[in-house]
Amino acid sequence: MNYPNWEVPGIGLPWVIGIIAIFHIMISHFAVGGGLYLAMAERKAMKEGRTDWFPLLERHSKFFLILTGIFGAVSGVGIWFAIGLIQPEATSTLIHNFVFGWAMEWVFFMVELTSAIVYYYTWNRIPQALHLKVGWLYAIASVCTLVIINGILTFMLTPGQAWLSVAGTGNESAYFWNAFFNPTYWPSLVLRILVCLSLAGVWALVTFSRLDEATHGDSKVKLVRWSTSWLAPAFILMPFVFAWYAAMVPATNKHLLELGMSTIGSGSFTQITRVVLMSVMSTATVAGVAYLFAYKYPRDFSPGHATAILFLALIATGSTEYAREAIRKPYVIGSHMYSNSVRVREVAQFNKEGYLTHSLWAPKDMTLAMDVGRTMFRGQCMSCHTIGGYRSMKHFLEERDYKAIGNVLKMLHENKKDSPYHNFMPPVVGTPEEILDLQIYLAALNPPPNKGAVASR
Ligand code: HEC
Repeated sequence: MNYPNWEVPGIGLPWVIGIIAIFHIMISHFAVGGGLYLAMAERKAMKEGRTDWFPLLERHSKFFLILTGIFGAVSGVGIWFAIGLIQPEATSTLIHNFVFGWAMEWVFFMVELTSAIVYYYTWNRIPQALHLKVGWLYAIASVCTLVIINGILTFMLTPGQAWLSVAGTGNESAYFWNAFFNPTYWPSLVLRILVCLSLAGVWALVTFSRLDEATHGDSKVKLVRWSTSWLAPAFILMPFVFAWYAAMVPATNKHLLELGMSTIGSGSFTQITRVVLMSVMSTATVAGVAYLFAYKYPRDFSPGHATAILFLALIATGSTEYAREAIRKPYVIGSHMYSNSVRVREVAQFNKEGYLTHSLWAPKDMTLAMDVGRTMFRGQCMSCHTIGGYRSMKHFLEERDYKAIGNVLKMLHENKKDSPYHNFMPPVVGTPEEILDLQIYLAALNPPPNKGAVASR
């Protein structure tokens, strides 16, 4: 524990990141796809002489600027804030490894935000051709932000053998490009670009659904239809790209999905399977609803319809991102760092010298077993569990007495390959005394019959 632990009762730490991230993803992917959308729409309008589109695109670009420039930027900073508090060790690793990656990212953000502002405020003020160039500048800069962040995000799931072989030696930066263009880089990039294009279509439908049929009838038909076509590439290509992505994910991670399939209804991983099904189903429903309501009857397409599509897209994006997070378990950085910030190579040392011995944030004067146990829990379990809320420890231990809890901890500590927990929980680390104190603390979470056991140390 090189950093203090933040405690969030109820939803727990994973969902603090999750909620901000899902909100941000909906907007940031739109920021990328929407830039291309605006530039291509303006080009199309110029080529085909559709002057009626210009004021409507101007209106859309205002909405675009507010949504991405304010909500996108603020939620992006929100993610930094949250991961800095919740996963400081992993955040530090990402910062150290990708210093120049982040530097490039900030440059493109600057170009992106500046050109979005210039684009909106120069409608009808500069020659049309130049205005379109600003639109392309925005589009290219925002695609570049995705090209870069994708390297860092995919690194967390699959850092790749080259980087892993030097992890912790101080030589990591020599393997920057290996880490960046890691095994899931390309399929993930294509997948995300498809998501960007469909979100550009979805958000455009939100704007154009509000057009009044009487005054903008013909423009509405054309714009709604054209926006719907932005969803097509994703629905045609998604299954193939998804299969490609899955092929690049290590077998152990995929095992979590299989675990869910085989234990559906009862097992602990049912929820991941459900989430994956939810993602597939909501994606398919978006396609159906968009075709039926927007493409077939564009004149009657209303803000209510658009909101329904947006809501479905939110569920699809949210569940897909949740599944991506879930299959990374028990790591925050694949095969290198567990979700509770313990590095794989530190396990033996912690077991020998103690987990709390070198911890900067463990209180130094702990004499009670309960205090040691609580600190162990905060350091090693709280990144995924809460006491009484999400993945509630109280609930998981309800049926277990002191001895049964000891068995669970023993299994977790030994972390054998065939342990039922091996694939989704990190090993418990520490000296036998520390683990015993954790056992005492956990046994006391629930009232009797467990309580009597506390005295038995
Ligand atoms: C990487 C995240 C992660 C960490 C860290 C973690 N767990 Fe878990 N744990 C899980 C997941 C995921 C489940 C299954 C959740 C479910 O069934 O919904 C789980 C389930 C459990 C269960 C129930 C298992 C069963 O057989 O019913 C216990 C007990 C448990 N964890 C204890 C702990 C303890 C103690 C620690 C800290 C030493 C810990 N966990 C750390 C992710 C984690």
